[in-house]
Amino acid sequence: MAKTQTFARCTHCDHREPRWVGRCQQCRSWGSMVEETTAGSFADGGVRARAVAPAEAARPIRQVSVHDHARAATGIGELDRVLGGGLVPGSVTLVGGEPGAGKSTLLLQAAHALAERGGGANVLYLSAEESPGQVRLRADRLDALSDHLLLANQTELPSVLGLVERHQPAVLVLDSIQTVRHPDVAGTAGGVSQVRECAGMLVGEAKRRGMATVLVGHVTKDGQLAGPRLLEHLVDVVLELSGERHHALRLLHAAKNRFGAVGEVGCFEMTGTGMAGISDAGRLFVGEAADGTTGVAVTLALEGRRPLACEVQALVAPTALANPRRVASGIDAQRLSLLVAVLERRAGVPLSDRDVFVSSVGGVRLGEPAVDLALCLAIASSRRDAPVARRLVALGEVGLAGELRLVTQTERRLAEAARLGFGGALLPAAYDGPAFGLQLHRSRNLSEALAAGLG
Ligand code: TYD
Ligand code: MG
Repeated sequence: MAKTQTFARCTHCDHREPRWVGRCQQCRSWGSMVEETTAGSFADGGVRARAVAPAEAARPIRQVSVHDHARAATGIGELDRVLGGGLVPGSVTLVGGEPGAGKSTLLLQAAHALAERGGGANVLYLSAEESPGQVRLRADRLDALSDHLLLANQTELPSVLGLVERHQPAVLVLDSIQTVRHPDVAGTAGGVSQVRECAGMLVGEAKRRGMATVLVGHVTKDGQLAGPRLLEHLVDVVLELSGERHHALRLLHAAKNRFGAVGEVGCFEMTGTGMAGISDAGRLFVGEAADGTTGVAVTLALEGRRPLACEVQALVAPTALANPRRVASGIDAQRLSLLVAVLERRAGVPLSDRDVFVSSVGGVRLGEPAVDLALCLAIASSRRDAPVARRLVALGEVGLAGELRLVTQTERRLAEAARLGFGGALLPAAYDGPAFGLQLHRSRNLSEALAAGLG
C-alpha cells in the first residue's frame, strides 16, 4: 500500500515544512501555509513503478512528421525579429517585465495586427487587470480596432478555458498570469501554486488546440514575484521587456526561444500612440553634445547580438567630503569604484579629492566590461578638462594593472561603428582584425589609451 505523507506547503514561495506552522519560515508571510497530502514517493518506497501499455509506440526519428511551423508574423518588425519570425501555433510565450514597461501596450498592438492578418481567425485578448472599457480606450489610441479582436475580462481559469472553447481563437493573450486563479487550487492569485497550476493548464490547452498563447508576467525590480521565474521551464519562449520608466526607450530580449535564436533584441520607443519599433537603433544612445564638450565618450555595447553605439558621460567635481562620492546611473557602481582606483593608481588621474558622477545616455544599462575604456576616457576627459578626440569610439576592458583587454566580437562592433560614420577606434594592442576604414589606435595600457584618446 502506498505510504501517504502529510506536510505543509507555502502558497507564496512553495517552501515545505514537515508540519503546519502559522508563518512561513522562508518568505516570512503569515497564514500562507496549507496542508497537503501525497501518496509517498519512489524514494521512500511508498510508490511502486508500474508499466502501462503505451497508446503509441516510439518512432524512428526520420518517421516523425514535421509540423511545418507556420509562424504567424505579427507584422511588428522588432517583435518578429525577437520571436524568430512570428508566433508559432501551439507555442506558449511568456512576456515579462516591470509594471509600466509597456507589455500590455505592445501585446494589444500585436493582438490587433494578428487579428488583421489572421484571415478571419479570432484573437482573444483577456485582460484581468483592466476592464474591457479601459482596453478599448487604449485600443482607440493605438488604432487597434479589429473585427476579429475579442476582449474579455476574466480572472477565473475555468471561465478563461470556457471562452477559448467558445471562440476557438488562433491566438490567446492573457494579461496577466498573476491575476488568474483556479478555484480548485489553494492560495491567492499570483501565488506560486496558482501561477504554476494555471500556467500548466494553459500550456496543455495551447498544445492541444494549436493555439498560440501569450502570457504576461510581472517582475518587480528585485525579481521578487516568483511567477515568471517559475514559468520559464514550462513555456516555449520567454521575452523580457525592459527600460527605464523615465525614458521612452524599451528593449525586448529573448531569454529563451525554442523556435529561434536567443540574443535577439528588439528596440522600441514608447510614444503617444503606442510602442514604435526602431529598426535602425544605431545612434539612439548617443547624445547631442557639442564638439569640444569634455567628459563624454562613445562605445559600442552589445545588446544580445546587436551592437549599439552608446555614449557615457562623466562629471568630475571638487568635493569637500572626506569620502568623495562615486555615483553611477546605468552603469554598475562597483565597476565605477574599481575603475576610479585604476585611473588613480595606474594612469595618474588624481580623483581622491573629487566627486565622480557617471551616466549612460538614454537610460540604457551598460553591464559589459567592454564599456570600461570609454568610461575611463570620459572620467579622465572631465578631470583634465580635455575633450575626447572627435568621432572616436573606445572598446576595451580595463584590468586592475591598467592593462587593456580585447572584448568579445570586437570586429562586429567596429563594423557597426564604421557604418554609423565614426572615424576612429581606441582599442587594446591585441586587436589584429580588419579596420573597416576606421583609424585604429591600439594601446597596451590605460595611460597610452588616454594619451591617444584625449586629443
Ligand atoms: P503598459 O502597457 O500599461 O505597461 P505594462 O502593461 O507593462 O504595465 O504601459 C506603460 C506606460 O506606457 C503607461 O505608463 C502609459 C504609457 N503609454 C504611453 O506612453 N503611450 C501609449 O500609447 C500607451 C498605451 C501607454
Ligand atoms: Mg499591463
